[in-house]
Amino acid sequence: MEKIVILTGAGISAESGLGTFRDEGGLWAQHRIEDVATPEGFARNPALVHQFYNARRVQAAKAQPNAAHQALARLQKDWPGEVIIVTQNVDSLHEAGGAKHVIYMHGTLAGALCGNCGHCWTSPLEMEVDEPCPVCQQPLVRPDVVWFREMPYFMDEVHDHLAGAALFASIGTSGQVYPAAGFVQQARAVGARTVELNLEPSAGASMFDETHLGSASTVVPRWVDQLLAQGSTQ
Ligand code: OAD
Repeated sequence: MEKIVILTGAGISAESGLGTFRDEGGLWAQHRIEDVATPEGFARNPALVHQFYNARRVQAAKAQPNAAHQALARLQKDWPGEVIIVTQNVDSLHEAGGAKHVIYMHGTLAGALCGNCGHCWTSPLEMEVDEPCPVCQQPLVRPDVVWFREMPYFMDEVHDHLAGAALFASIGTSGQVYPAAGFVQQARAVGARTVELNLEPSAGASMFDETHLGSASTVVPRWVDQLLAQGSTQ
């Protein structure tokens, strides 16, 4: 059975109303990465970091999955082999769209993490700086998201999946952040076919055997239909 590994980024949730990072007017045009997405930024000003993620969590809670999330859930259900979705996104729209087995390599807004003992629990909609950990009682709560200079989650699992992939697809990501940006090379190294679906060519565009340019809600369902009709990745 041919395994498909799919990497998604902010572009897949753009049509659900969630902002991307590097497009014009994106999140990194409005906030400094060093302030809101690094351990040092959190140590300097935890209230500002909570404010940033609280706003994103509130917005994400209102968002609905779009046709691209739903199409990937359909692929996962109907493809005869395994379909692994690895997302850099911290929203829950893949699961809201019906997907199972989503790997959240950058964590999730739905989680709270204790900076003291590492305990994880379900995040309230808005986190407060002094909220104590339910296990160790230390007031070091943070969003369970991966920041710059931290190690993404589940990398061994992702590498194992890539090693067995017949097809690797990258959807809605600019290909500027590693390790995710390097997955395409790993997939190529094991002979997988590589496909990019994005609004515009990403930084690693030349690495892909096939490219579908356009908005995710249009190109992803079309690609999924083709794949299911073909029944093979080649
Ligand atoms: P980016 O904002 O870097 O890239 C989003 C990509 O989606 C761009 O290539 C856009 O062209 C494309 N795009 C925008 N709208 C689209 C649409 N409707 N349909 C299809 N594609 C669309 O976001 P990511 O690549 O996900 O990490 O960013 C990767 C990581 O950088 C994030 O997980 C985050 C960020 O800093 C951390 O915070 C650790």
